Amino acid sequence: MKVGIIGRGAIGVCLASYLSKQNQMQTVLFIRDTYEPISPLYLQQVDGVDIAITAPQVNLNAETLKDIDLLILPIKHYQVETTLLALQGKLSHHTTVLLLHNGMGTQALIEKHLPNTPYLIGITTDAAYQVSANRFHQVACGKLEIGCPIQTSEIDSRNVSTRSMTELMKLHPRLTWREDIEYAQYQKLAINAAINPLSATKNCKNGQVKHFKDELKQIKSEIFDLYEFMNLPIDNHELSQQIDDVIDLTKNNYSSMHQDFNKNRQTEVDGILGFLLLKGEETGMKLPFIESLYQQIVSSGSA
Ligand code: PAF
Repeated sequence: MKVGIIGRGAIGVCLASYLSKQNQMQTVLFIRDTYEPISPLYLQQVDGVDIAITAPQVNLNAETLKDIDLLILPIKHYQVETTLLALQGKLSHHTTVLLLHNGMGTQALIEKHLPNTPYLIGITTDAAYQVSANRFHQVACGKLEIGCPIQTSEIDSRNVSTRSMTELMKLHPRLTWREDIEYAQYQKLAINAAINPLSATKNCKNGQVKHFKDELKQIKSEIFDLYEFMNLPIDNHELSQQIDDVIDLTKNNYSSMHQDFNKNRQTEVDGILGFLLLKGEETGMKLPFIESLYQQIVSSGSA
């Protein structure tokens, strides 16, 4: 199987590091037009060992795109649409796309812009950040959950993914297949919504989010009410525990939104709080605390 990874982001580099240990898997990093290849890239793994990522870096417009069987998009939520547009007309019929980002709402985009392309959804708890142009630091080697959402198009990604399951397993040391990937996405969305905006606006590490008890309680309760109203088969007590567990497990990390917000970069707030607000609108449910947190981030210019 030939794997393509779009971008030189920290999560993409972690995936490239796992793949570099798999002889049978050829990996290519696709970089955007304006970027120059920098080779090799280095990842300091969680065990402190530096690993060189020697996968070739090629331009997104390259012919190489045609040979790719699995194209992974470990990019920011707000980069998904432009990337999908850039891929139009360039993929082969045998290419499956794997969306891998925080937040929700991009399923409609892939079905709109690449209607004939099978796709999968991934959720990762890997954590890493970029130190310099060619150096990355992995904070946690988490897990990767992959699944095939119900698709409105004629394309059946389920067949594609079942056939290449053995191959897919090589993508990550801890990969699991989730039949209920959409619920897993809603769980991850709740975790991101509870941690990321608070850590960004309060300028704190993930572990300190729990000191903002009232805010955390309020955000959890709005999410749980919404999920209940949407009839999602998610147990609120379990979800609350999962949120607390991620806060503890990542207590020394700065969330991705904290990093973006504090560097005045665009954040994934639209894919996280924005998506919840959209669901609130659709169901007629008011989410005042989530709305105010959203406004606070947007008004700072970090939409
Ligand atoms: O976005 C992030 O930083 C992570 O997904 C996590 C662990 C949920 C929050 O830090």
